Amino acid sequence: MTPTWVQLGYLAAAVLFILSLKGLSSPKSARMGTLLGAAGALLATVILFFSGIELDNLIVILVAVIAGTAIGLVAARRVKMTAMPQLVALFNGAGGGAAALVALVEFLEYGSTKGTLFLIATVLTVLIGGVSASGSVVTYLKLQEIMTTRPVVLPAGRFITIGIAVLTVAAAVWVIVSPSTLGVTGLLVLSLIFGILFVLPVGGADVPIVISLLNAFTGLSVAASGYVLSNVLLIIAGTLVGASGTLLTREMAKAMGRPLTSTLFGAFSGTTQGGGGTGEDRPVRSAGPNDVAIMLGYANKVILVPGYGLAVAQAQSTLREVADLLTARGIDVDYAIHPVAGRMPGHMNVLLAEASVPYEQLKEMEEINPDFSATDVVLVVGANDVVNPAARSDKSAPIYGMPILDVDNAQQVVFLKRSMRPGFAGIENELLYDPKTTLLFGDAKDSLTKVVTSLKAL
Ligand code: TAP
Repeated sequence: MTPTWVQLGYLAAAVLFILSLKGLSSPKSARMGTLLGAAGALLATVILFFSGIELDNLIVILVAVIAGTAIGLVAARRVKMTAMPQLVALFNGAGGGAAALVALVEFLEYGSTKGTLFLIATVLTVLIGGVSASGSVVTYLKLQEIMTTRPVVLPAGRFITIGIAVLTVAAAVWVIVSPSTLGVTGLLVLSLIFGILFVLPVGGADVPIVISLLNAFTGLSVAASGYVLSNVLLIIAGTLVGASGTLLTREMAKAMGRPLTSTLFGAFSGTTQGGGGTGEDRPVRSAGPNDVAIMLGYANKVILVPGYGLAVAQAQSTLREVADLLTARGIDVDYAIHPVAGRMPGHMNVLLAEASVPYEQLKEMEEINPDFSATDVVLVVGANDVVNPAARSDKSAPIYGMPILDVDNAQQVVFLKRSMRPGFAGIENELLYDPKTTLLFGDAKDSLTKVVTSLKAL
C-alpha cells in the first residue's frame, strides 16, 4: 500500500505537470511552464527515494541519475536554438527506450506471475517504447543531416515494413499467450527495426511532425509502464504527454496542409518525392543594401517575413531595428508568421520575442495573407519554403498542399539570403526568378545591419 504522503506528493507533481502544459501554451508563460514541469519531475523523483520501496543497487541508480543529469544539462545548455528539434528527438527517444527497458527488466523478474494485464502492459511498453526509441534516432540523424533528409524508400520497402509490422504484432501476441524471455527480447528487437522502417520514408520537411508523433508514442509507453510498475504518476504523466503529443501532431499536420497518413506513407506512393534542381545558372535580379533601403524607406506598407535563416544569422534584433526605423518614417510594418517557419513550432515567435517585438505586430498566416496584395514591399529574411509558390502548383513537390504566405501577391519582394541554395525541403523557388523579386545576397545580419545604416542616411 502506497503511504498517503506519497500519494499526496504524486498528486502535487501531477498538478505541476498540468500547470506546466497550461504555461507552455503561450510564449509569455512558457518559461514558467517549463520550470513547473521540471519541478514536478524533481518532486516525483525525490519522493520515490523516500517512499519506502526497496531500492536495490542504490549506488548504480545514483550514478545513473548524476550522469543523466550532467549529460542533459550540458547538451541543453550548449545546443543551438536551430538544433533544438534534434535534441528533443534524442531526449524523447531516450524516454521511450528507458520505458521499454524497464518493462523488459520487470518481465525478466516476474515473468507471467503477475497475470495477463501485467503482460499486456509489458508488451505495449516494450513495443511502443522500442518504436519510439529507434524512430527518434533516425529523426535525429535526418535533422542533423548525418543522413539524407530526403525520403528513403528501400526496394520493396512497403512489403518489408508490412512484414515487420505483422511479425511485431505476432511476437506481442505470443508473449501474452506464452510468456518467454526469447519472445519479449524478440519483440523489442522487432519494435526497434519497425521504428527505423517507419521513419526512413519520411521526407525532411515532415520530420518535425514525426518527432511530435513519436513524442506521443513515448507518452503512451510511459503510461503503459505505469501499469507495469503500479505507479500512478507514470500513468498520469505518460497520458499527458501522449495526449498533448497527439494534439500537436494534428496541429502540425494541419499547418503543413496534409493528412498525417500522407506524411507517414506518402513516399511509398511517390506523393512526397520530387523537387527541382538548383537552377543556379538562371538570371536573377540582385541589389545592394542601399537599393533595398530605398525600396523600403519609400514604401507605404511593408511586411517582414522571418524564416529559418533569421535564426541562423541571429538577426532578430537588427530586423527589429529595421522595423522601428520604418515605423518612425510613418510606414505600416507587420511581421508575417508562418506556422512552420524555422525548425520548430513557435520558432519565429520565440525569436522575435527575444528581440522584444510587440506581439501585436506578429500576424499569423491566415490573418496576414489578404494584406499582401496591398503591400509595396515584402522583406523575406532567411525564409524560403514557407513562401514557395510550388506548394500551390507543383504536385511533385514535397511541400505540395502546404498553405504558404502569399508574398507573390505583393508589388515587390526582397529576399535576404546567402546563395541560390534551396530551403529545408530541397526544392527550387520560382519566386526567386520572378521579375518583381530582388535578392540581397549575404548573411542576414550583415545585410540588415547595412540596410539599417542606409535607412538612417535616407
Ligand atoms: P527554409 O525553407 O529552410 O529556408 C531557409 C532560408 O534561409 C534558405 O533560403 C537559406 O538560404 C537562408 N539562410 C540560411 N542561413 C542564412 C543566413 N545566415 N543569412 C541569410 N539567409 C540564410 O526556411 P523556412 O522558409 O523558415 O521554412 C521552414 C522549413 O523547415 C519548412 O520546410 C518546414 O517544413 C521545415 N521545418 C519546420 C519545422 C517547424 S515545426 N517550424 C521543423 C523542421 C523543419 P541560403 O542558404 O542561400 O542562405
